[in-house]
Amino acid sequence: MAESIQGLKRTHMCAELSLENVGQEVVLMGWVQKRRDLGGVIFVDLRDRTGIVQIVFDAKISNKVFEKAESIRNEYVLAVMGSVVKRDPETVNPKLKTGEIEVKITELRILSKAETPPFYIEEDSDANEQIRLKYRYLDLRRPDMQQNIILRHKVTKIARDYFDANGFLEIETPMLTKSTPEGARDYLVPSRVHPGEFYALPQSPQLYKQLLMLAGMDRYFQIVKCFRDEDLRADRQPEFTQIDLEMSFVDVEDILSINEEFIAKLFKETLGVEIETPFLRLPYQEAMDRFGSDKPDMRFGFELVDLSDIVVNSGFKVFADAVTKGGSVRAINAKNCKEKFSRRDLDGLVDFVKIYKAKGMAWIVVTEDELKSPITKFFNDEEIKAILDRTGAQPGDIIMIVADKNEIVYDALGHLRLELAKRLDMLKKDAYKFVWVTEFPLLEYDEEEKRYVAKHHPFTSPMDQDIALLDTDPSKVRAKAYDIVLNGVEIGGGSIRIYNTELQQKMFETLGFSKEEAWERFGFLMEAFKYGTPPHGGMAYGLDRLVMLIAGKDSIRDVIAFPKVQNASELMTNAPSTVDLKQLKELHIKVENE
Ligand code: AMO
Ligand code: AMP
Repeated sequence: MAESIQGLKRTHMCAELSLENVGQEVVLMGWVQKRRDLGGVIFVDLRDRTGIVQIVFDAKISNKVFEKAESIRNEYVLAVMGSVVKRDPETVNPKLKTGEIEVKITELRILSKAETPPFYIEEDSDANEQIRLKYRYLDLRRPDMQQNIILRHKVTKIARDYFDANGFLEIETPMLTKSTPEGARDYLVPSRVHPGEFYALPQSPQLYKQLLMLAGMDRYFQIVKCFRDEDLRADRQPEFTQIDLEMSFVDVEDILSINEEFIAKLFKETLGVEIETPFLRLPYQEAMDRFGSDKPDMRFGFELVDLSDIVVNSGFKVFADAVTKGGSVRAINAKNCKEKFSRRDLDGLVDFVKIYKAKGMAWIVVTEDELKSPITKFFNDEEIKAILDRTGAQPGDIIMIVADKNEIVYDALGHLRLELAKRLDMLKKDAYKFVWVTEFPLLEYDEEEKRYVAKHHPFTSPMDQDIALLDTDPSKVRAKAYDIVLNGVEIGGGSIRIYNTELQQKMFETLGFSKEEAWERFGFLMEAFKYGTPPHGGMAYGLDRLVMLIAGKDSIRDVIAFPKVQNASELMTNAPSTVDLKQLKELHIKVENE
């Protein structure tokens, strides 16, 4: 039990009180949300982490206490004692959890005074985010932010309990490490003891967790900070948290199913929502062909349709050329959208696809008796009929078509699909559509570096039936890699790893590393592989993204206590900052001023 504070000991949290407490004497501690002085009676909304309760200072009960209460202002910190009473029916506040009661105060201690805060502390504040982040400790007092942080705690607790119950050990891995090859830029930490040498903060615990499998730990998990020096977005922070896991003696299905069970439990216990398992599994190529994206939002249709074979010999050169040059012509049938999109809206959508490098977007508006379109004149009846059949077009629909290199067609139509759903208000936040995207390509050709790079990371195993293609056509090799996608957000990803030294060497060769280079960078791993490696694999969730979606927010900043802003600075402490010359000297670092 807590020591008494100025003679009072807290007995209850504010919003824990209900009709059941009527008649009891209670001691509460918290902040003043709002104060109304009605002359002779002062009402105060007292707030703590649980919520708000109304307390009443009545001159008739104690004049001394009442007079003291007159000095109370917003955000003062109070300790109060009083008795819980039932409110008169006409004063019940149905919006408040504690709205049926109030507390008549007999003792008051003002524990702290407060200056007027820079913004009013309330649910759904419209204060600008810069100010909220500068005074994050005030922002975090707001009930919706508190709920987000409490939810985040619950999610990590459920994760710990679930993975513990399934035989996973939580093992910490170093924060000062050797740079891991996960694609993003590293945050480097200079070594004082080793002049000119640097640690890297981990982009993920990837190599360590694999080494833990080698070490016989069998199942590992960790809730762990990762650091990536990338450009930030609403769902990207330079430091973020993963629920990271790895398992021995498993193949893809084992990992997917244990994680589906985790997700089902998580959504049941946080939102009370039943999630059906198993989730849909969509091979990468199918995801691209049907949704134009490797993180498809499955809450709505508008699937892509390939028209390439129909238009390849047509009189519309733009379309025919796109196909003969190896690209494609694909369409979305915007069902029943004729009345929803004006000619002007269509022009807007043409500009929209241009953001994604499409050169244009052709459209066909289908009505009962005609087709309105700038392009139908280029096609013969047979081609038109085939386009209408393939897209399933009916009167009232609009067919939207993009022709280009495949990459651009997928990207433009993938984003167009989302844009249509957004404009038609089809993105329901409380529909939770999970999908595993599987069989990712193992490699990607990097035009700048003129070599293949790993799409996931260099330890990802190719699919058994594709290994031979490593020699003949590396771009066709599929990997035992998967992402878990919720409502169009990649919330996690992982793979089965290579556990055989020769295959790992081959992979490094394909990536263009010489034997020496590979040893220099990953020697410790290849050395370890010599001493008995179990087949293993795993994955990692982006905890911030997962909590964001459960909380129904649009930015991971809303579920991180102290996030960074777009330019990677922290507005409250002003990190990063310059340091003393003495500190730099100790680290053997000279800063060049540009
Ligand atoms: P990956 O790089 O896909 O995999 O990361 C796993 C998940 O982490 C989240 N994530 C991020 N969240 C916020 N801000 C970021 N900057 C950020 N970057 C990634 C995403 C992503 O799905 N070691 C592998 C996992 C494995 O193979 O086991 C890894 O890190 O939700
Ligand atoms: P144009 O012949 O350039 O006037 O284009 C005729 C129609 O085709 C216009 O509606 C353009 O938006 C459309 N269009 C042009 N290029 C493409 C393309 N690459 N893909 C789809 N539609 C296109």
